[in-house]
Amino acid sequence: MIRKDLGFHIYEVEKISELDKREQRLVQLSLEMTGKAYAPYSEFFVGAAVLLENGEIITGSNQENGAYPSGLCAERVAVFAASAMFPGVPMKIIAVSAKSTRFKIDEPVSPCGACRQVLLEYEILQRQPIKVLLAKEDGKILIIEKVHDLLPLSFSGDELKMNGPR
Ligand code: THU
Repeated sequence: MIRKDLGFHIYEVEKISELDKREQRLVQLSLEMTGKAYAPYSEFFVGAAVLLENGEIITGSNQENGAYPSGLCAERVAVFAASAMFPGVPMKIIAVSAKSTRFKIDEPVSPCGACRQVLLEYEILQRQPIKVLLAKEDGKILIIEKVHDLLPLSFSGDELKMNGPR
């Protein structure tokens, strides 16, 4: 047996002013988008903002539904909208923020597994990293250089595109 280490780095800044102006704006927008969430069931309000290579910024918020699994996270609302409106335009950065009226949020929000999978497919497709900024109402922000870091040993979907039947 051999041991294999799969390491990655994250960065942390204490406050938003430590980010560059472009990233500050993106985090700010994701925070504003928490106000547009439709989350009456969880009362956990998430916002996302995606910066595209063409300079466009596409935003999203979580959208819930009385039939619970039919809802969608803010990250997927944003990246699906970005890909639908600007197919093929690379995504450079996604910022995600969360607020809650019910819970105290101590840590920046972290994308769920399904969102990581979706983000990763776009990252692989565009062959360049999507930087991830994870924030909350105030305080520290986590910076992850690429989505791949959030989902090592991922299912790539390549297995579905084999050259015909076995
Ligand atoms: N949620 C997001 O929108 N993004 C995340 O990263 C975590 C969870 C949403 C889904 C659901 O509407 C609510 O937060 C509670 O899970």
